[in-house]
Amino acid sequence: MRHFLDIDDLTPSELARILNLASDPKPPQVLAGRGVALLFEKPSARTRSATEMAVVQLGGHPVYIGAAEVGLDQRESVEDVTRTMGCYSAVIGARVFAHSTAERMAAVSEVPVVNLLSDHAHPTQAVADLLTMRDAMGHLEGLKLAYVGDANNVARSLAYAAGLSGIALRIASPPGYEFGESDLRPMRQCGCEPVQVDKPVEAVRGADVVYTDVWASMGQEEEAAQRRQDFTGFTVNRRLMTQAAPGAVFLHCLPAHRGEEVEAKVIDGPQSRVWPQAANRMHAARGLLLWLMEQAEA
Ligand code: CP
Ligand code: NVA
Repeated sequence: MRHFLDIDDLTPSELARILNLASDPKPPQVLAGRGVALLFEKPSARTRSATEMAVVQLGGHPVYIGAAEVGLDQRESVEDVTRTMGCYSAVIGARVFAHSTAERMAAVSEVPVVNLLSDHAHPTQAVADLLTMRDAMGHLEGLKLAYVGDANNVARSLAYAAGLSGIALRIASPPGYEFGESDLRPMRQCGCEPVQVDKPVEAVRGADVVYTDVWASMGQEEEAAQRRQDFTGFTVNRRLMTQAAPGAVFLHCLPAHRGEEVEAKVIDGPQSRVWPQAANRMHAARGLLLWLMEQAEA
């Protein structure tokens, strides 16, 4: 049995297998008659719906659980909630504030635990991002990817996904918002270390794909005003996009703040692939669930 807390839980061939399973037009009903628990400590427009629909497409039944309902570490410990969900579910998906909560769940769970976003990683997003880049460019190996913005959960999983897929990543972040050594060391170990640069244009020049995310993530709302100042000059706008390769596409995990990290004319313009990217969240979730069930049977 395998858990999926970040992309570096996978080998390159396992990641490629998940991408291929995600494209299966007639997926086997591996979850027939089984439940998948989906626990959310934070809001979601895409992840919850995409994962619920992926479960349905595999014949299973998604069970949404809001944090207030189970009272993680208040009404009951994370460990006991996890053991309980495992009584009814083939897989437990969890969106949590602290990554350590997902790790605690995985440590005691008798069914696979999937990280549906933590403060550290957003790996199911990164699988969908790879599908979207493959759809847009026809291949992954050798692509040039630029990430402009906060070196956050999305950027971290994207870095591993890029590294394991042969994509060269350059990331531009303001001072204080870059990956630190504690991030770079494990990335280096798996050959996933991105090139960090100071200026957005240095990341974007010649890139096939330009990616950004919000400046203040969920849980960082009180830092939003400071971050708006600190990220001045890091908006992905049309002028910046002219520095990318001809035919370059724009990605954003969403939700987006138009006028902050991205100009409306970019995210709503012809280079944007954010809606296929959102749609791929469901296909990615289905591929991942198929792979987890394969692993459980192996
Ligand atoms: N991209 C993403 O995870 O969106 P939600 O927060 O709406 O699920
Ligand atoms: N970095 C963002 C991603 C949302 C999908 C956050 O954690 O809020």
